[in-house]
Amino acid sequence: MDQVNDWDEYTFTEEQIKNEDYKATIGGGKEQWDKRGMYQLLCMAHFGMTPEHTFIDIGCGPLRAGDYFIRYLEKENYTGYEYNRDYTVIAKRIIEANNQLKSKNPTIYHTVSNMFEFSIGFPTFDYGLAFSVLNHCTDEQRIAFFNNIKSITHPGSRIFFSHGFWLTDELKEQIPDIWAVFRYEENHPSISTESFGWKPHEIIYPFIEFERMN
Ligand SMILES: C[S@@+](CC[C@H](N)C(=O)[O-])C[C@H]1O[C@@H](n2cnc3c(N)ncnc32)[C@H](O)[C@@H]1O
Repeated sequence: MDQVNDWDEYTFTEEQIKNEDYKATIGGGKEQWDKRGMYQLLCMAHFGMTPEHTFIDIGCGPLRAGDYFIRYLEKENYTGYEYNRDYTVIAKRIIEANNQLKSKNPTIYHTVSNMFEFSIGFPTFDYGLAFSVLNHCTDEQRIAFFNNIKSITHPGSRIFFSHGFWLTDELKEQIPDIWAVFRYEENHPSISTESFGWKPHEIIYPFIEFERMN
């Protein structure tokens, strides 16, 4: 499919949904879909997320990883947050069509704002992941992200993002100081990106962790 400038410009016909053409809009496409989805769960488990934790998948897309997260987490512990309307329609259909996913009663939230706004009454989460999301954003959106995730976290919450090469010292200075920031530069040997469908030049590191201190 053609590349677009704004994620919300991707729309899909019934035929395209049936053929799973939406998979071609995300890096690795259909071919690497399952591996790259599973990889994200292994990473979060590696970072300490267990089934009883509550988790938000920020920019969840059409559940490439969400499928794995929902199966892993206990009932009601998964929330997908997404800006592209059709991705959320697809995500909801995938859940509806699968009893195991449906029984976990996950939440899929469509946001009309691309500034990481969370409505009043949004819960807080123990863990969060924005996988291949902030690298597609502007600095203005990134700063909004750092400010706005305060309302969906509590002390001890841990938020991770991939492709963190853009987190410069200058940008760090604009991040509220309730966050301790950690960088993970290297592949974990047992979950190396190459064995999960990334080519050597497709660098998804550093992974960045924000741990909320108070
Ligand atoms: C490269 S895709 C990654 C999708 C998913 N995280 C994965 O790894 O399969 C980026 C996703 O982030 C979403 N996104 C980008 N900016 C967003 C924003 N400001 N708020 C919510 N979602 C956003 C896009 O619509 C898209 O689904």
